[in-house]
Amino acid sequence: MRKQPIQTAPIRKKKRQPVKQEQKPVNRNRTLKRWDAIIEKVGKQPGLIGAEIGVDTGKTCKVLFERIPGIFLFLVDRWIETPEGDSYYQGARKLCHEPQEYFNKAYNKVVKIAENHNHKILKMDSVEAAEFIEDQSIDFCFIDGDHSYIGTKRDIEAWLPKVKVGGWICGHDYDNKNTIGDVKTAVDEAFGDDIELSYNTTWFHKVK
Ligand SMILES: C[S@@+](CC[C@H](N)C(=O)[O-])C[C@H]1O[C@@H](n2cnc3c(N)ncnc32)[C@H](O)[C@@H]1O
Repeated sequence: MRKQPIQTAPIRKKKRQPVKQEQKPVNRNRTLKRWDAIIEKVGKQPGLIGAEIGVDTGKTCKVLFERIPGIFLFLVDRWIETPEGDSYYQGARKLCHEPQEYFNKAYNKVVKIAENHNHKILKMDSVEAAEFIEDQSIDFCFIDGDHSYIGTKRDIEAWLPKVKVGGWICGHDYDNKNTIGDVKTAVDEAFGDDIELSYNTTWFHKVK
């Protein structure tokens, strides 16, 4: 006779635990990058308007221009050597110590990348730049500038009103162990559990 397993207690379904921030599903796929995450979320519909806060040499905007036909991008970066005592010092690795020459080259590179695409370069502080943008006028805002807690908080506060309802405010380096700074605390404080994490340490909040 086939042995039956002895049942010692009634089988109970495991209670679902609430998903904590740290347990949110993070896609660790190393081949997919921040631009893949942005395109997956915002789509490729005609007339898409976005902003990138912190552009550097234009790696992200280059791919967005190539893969989203007709996209309009506000490209925001001050492209200056980090001023003494600036919060940006707390929020990046090597980049915040680069000399002005580096930023001049980076800026020229972005001008070239963008020249045949719909764009407006705002070469200034990111909070100052937000004043030039109409409220609820853009489909997404990708924050990747000053990665310090205070810098990220400032950018979220300045740029959230610029995004249309149903659009995305998002950014890079959420809980990125390789980056100094504290994007995570500022993002969690602003949106709590109402964020989605994606490739390459990106975070997304759908604007309501
Ligand atoms: C990590 S890089 C951006 C990388 C880029 N988004 C990409 O995907 O390749 C950060 C950039 O933010 C810029 N930045 C830092 N603080 C800023 C501020 N307060 N206003 C404007 N730009 C700022 C720096 O000049 C730097 O080029």
